[in-house]
Amino acid sequence: MEATIERSLFEGMAREQQREGPPPGFPELPSIPGGRYTDPDFLRLEEQYLWKRSWLYALHADELPRPGSFRMWRKTGAPIIIIRGKDGRIRAFYNTCRHRGAPLLEADQGETKGFFCRYHGWTYDLDGRLMAVREKRDFPGLDTSCMGLAEVRCEMYGNWVFLNEDPDAPPLVESLGPIPSHWEHLDLGNHRHIASSSYEIACNVKILLDAFLETYHLKSIHPQTVDRFLDSRGTHILLWPWGHSMMVTPHRRPDWRDPGAVGMPEVEGVEEIFAHQNPSYNIYPNLITPPSATGIPFITFWPRSARSMVVDVHWFALEGSQGHELWPTRLSNFERILEEDTQFAPRIQESVETAGFKGMYLSYQERRIYHWHEELDRRIGKERIPEALRVRPLLGPWIAER
Ligand code: FES
Ligand SMILES: [Fe+2]
Repeated sequence: MEATIERSLFEGMAREQQREGPPPGFPELPSIPGGRYTDPDFLRLEEQYLWKRSWLYALHADELPRPGSFRMWRKTGAPIIIIRGKDGRIRAFYNTCRHRGAPLLEADQGETKGFFCRYHGWTYDLDGRLMAVREKRDFPGLDTSCMGLAEVRCEMYGNWVFLNEDPDAPPLVESLGPIPSHWEHLDLGNHRHIASSSYEIACNVKILLDAFLETYHLKSIHPQTVDRFLDSRGTHILLWPWGHSMMVTPHRRPDWRDPGAVGMPEVEGVEEIFAHQNPSYNIYPNLITPPSATGIPFITFWPRSARSMVVDVHWFALEGSQGHELWPTRLSNFERILEEDTQFAPRIQESVETAGFKGMYLSYQERRIYHWHEELDRRIGKERIPEALRVRPLLGPWIAER
């Protein structure tokens, strides 16, 4: 992160603590229509234009240790094989044989030397090339060089693998906007995968995601945990192009240290903002991360159905952090906070489905949620959304470039 940017974050937090209201000219935000959380037609648009067309975090390279290591990934519905090739490169393919669509792999993870379809025996190599066809004499027109497995866009940032089902999407790193420049001193290449866990929650995916875009709830939901060390009145927010955003919240005491991370290896030369404050980023749409000098959690949010979702928590930390004795404590502290965040979600879902719910009425401090929804409409295309469910674009002038 450039020094001027870091300075402006500190200044921003100080300004937030002093301000008496929103800045002059900030628009009143209309309520977000509840139908955006419940209407089946809207959710179908969201699936088609958001989830099927976004760069989404899939896994860390450590999870595919050897050539031939694979994972099956189903987060957007389609079964997708993510596999490390003989050349070490990680690729992704739909798990569908080019002959008549049988699956090539049946396990959720493992190792393979290639793909062998058990229906009629076609075989493909790890790069997805069609290598052998049984009774080839009966396919006189078949050009095997054009019948490789259908590939899914798969790109890396640091050691993280992202997928995008949109073949025309711009490159991943370009799509991340200012985030890579913020994280340039985090030594991402030396971060290892530490742990992952998964939780199913009975609500629409956005109900829970919203809670991770603001700090307004800290005092009431996290009085014994996060609110004890973070001063939510100092939360400073940046809205960015592509729907991304960040907020940074000051610690109540500048010398506060995470007791669950004391003594863990720290990234050398990392900015103060990561070492001693609490920045949290949203890589649009569904990745929330508060990176720190001693570890980076990725919290990802996935739709399951209209009213159920999965939240995954992945931890990464510097080489040498693996096996540190404090990890079990640190992970369970984090899980406790997550439980605080999820406690109301199923009943909020129940409530937004009633006639008593008149929309999400947002404050200035909750504007990242509005920004998130504005981007969703840009991705879907306003003309496809019924007027009553649209979000009026208002935050354009408040979007920063860096
Ligand atoms: S479906 Fe795979 S070989 Fe026939
Ligand atoms: Fe929270």
